[in-house]
Amino acid sequence: MALLLTGGTGFIGSHTAVEFIQAGLETVIADDLSNSTADVVDRIETITGVRPAFVCADMCDAEAVEAIFSQYDIEGVIHFAGFKAVGESVEKPVEYYRNNLLSTLTLLDAMRRHGCKVFVFSSSATVYGENNPIPYVETMQTGDCTNPYGWSKFMNEQILMDAAKADPSLSVSLLRYFNPIGAHESGLLGDDPSGIPNNLMPYITRVAKGELPHLNVYGNDYPTVDGTGVRDYIHVVDLAKGHLAAYQYAKDHAGTEVFNLGSGKGTSVLQLVETFKRVNNIDVPYVIAPRRAGDIAEFYADATKAEEVLHWHTEKTVEDMCRDSWNWEMKG
Ligand code: WQD
Repeated sequence: MALLLTGGTGFIGSHTAVEFIQAGLETVIADDLSNSTADVVDRIETITGVRPAFVCADMCDAEAVEAIFSQYDIEGVIHFAGFKAVGESVEKPVEYYRNNLLSTLTLLDAMRRHGCKVFVFSSSATVYGENNPIPYVETMQTGDCTNPYGWSKFMNEQILMDAAKADPSLSVSLLRYFNPIGAHESGLLGDDPSGIPNNLMPYITRVAKGELPHLNVYGNDYPTVDGTGVRDYIHVVDLAKGHLAAYQYAKDHAGTEVFNLGSGKGTSVLQLVETFKRVNNIDVPYVIAPRRAGDIAEFYADATKAEEVLHWHTEKTVEDMCRDSWNWEMKG
């Protein structure tokens, strides 16, 4: 019996593969390598001492997905594979909807043919839209997304909830990530966006390394602690452990459950920058720039449900996230 991690050579998928392997679970990684490289499998083996099976495949390719389910006895799917750049999704909505939705539908078809009953989905806090009060709670209204990437997560949640309603034996976990940053302590795995990073932490590390001249702080006139955007940063290793806890719960409970995976605490852009500089004893020059279109001033999780149901909560601090991100950047 094995677990299929789609997108398993990506940032969150690779860290989750390490936790699953170290928990003694047989893991199959499938990835089309459109946003990662195959040497991540070598790095996972170096960290764990176990080389997971790896299949280079597009999860929208029904024949390729069928071949995986025919070759391996898949007892659960952790679905990370998907396009995830917010700005790019606005420019290429058709590609985003096709890839992010068809992959899920293709996997559900194969699962039904092979009697696989557990689906853990990589969702996002972005489904809460911009009109919910903070902290976000799983029972809050979702939708009202501000970009096709967010809408594709919302639509996937709807697809999976309806599939579980139609098949009461199916177990679905919808994991709503907040802001994953950090890297494995070994420095062998981390966030490796191609080109100019969209997200804050990879941009900070590139500035610290001297590859970019300065950080643009997108607005300091928000109604927040210091005027800059506030987010719920979660260490990627904590997030990976959250997937393990969710799978272990899902395999014993049919039906659909939604979980926020966040720290429950907010950190501003300037607080993160200052923490990074202090922890790593390095400068990060920045300028205050105009607000970025589509940004929300502040959001963070109510993380109570994951604690109560999964007995999971974050353990690593913002200092850990800053230290591990820099260690990865220097070694990467
Ligand atoms: C964080 C804060 C920016 C870059 C997005 C997606 C979300 C998830 C995580 C995939 C904001 C500020 C950023 C910069 C800045 N992705 N910022 N200068 O937008 O909260 O969430 O990434 O799952 O779905 O929406 O993350 O890191 O882009 O921004 O000032 O160069 O940092 O304004 O306040 P975001 P982010």
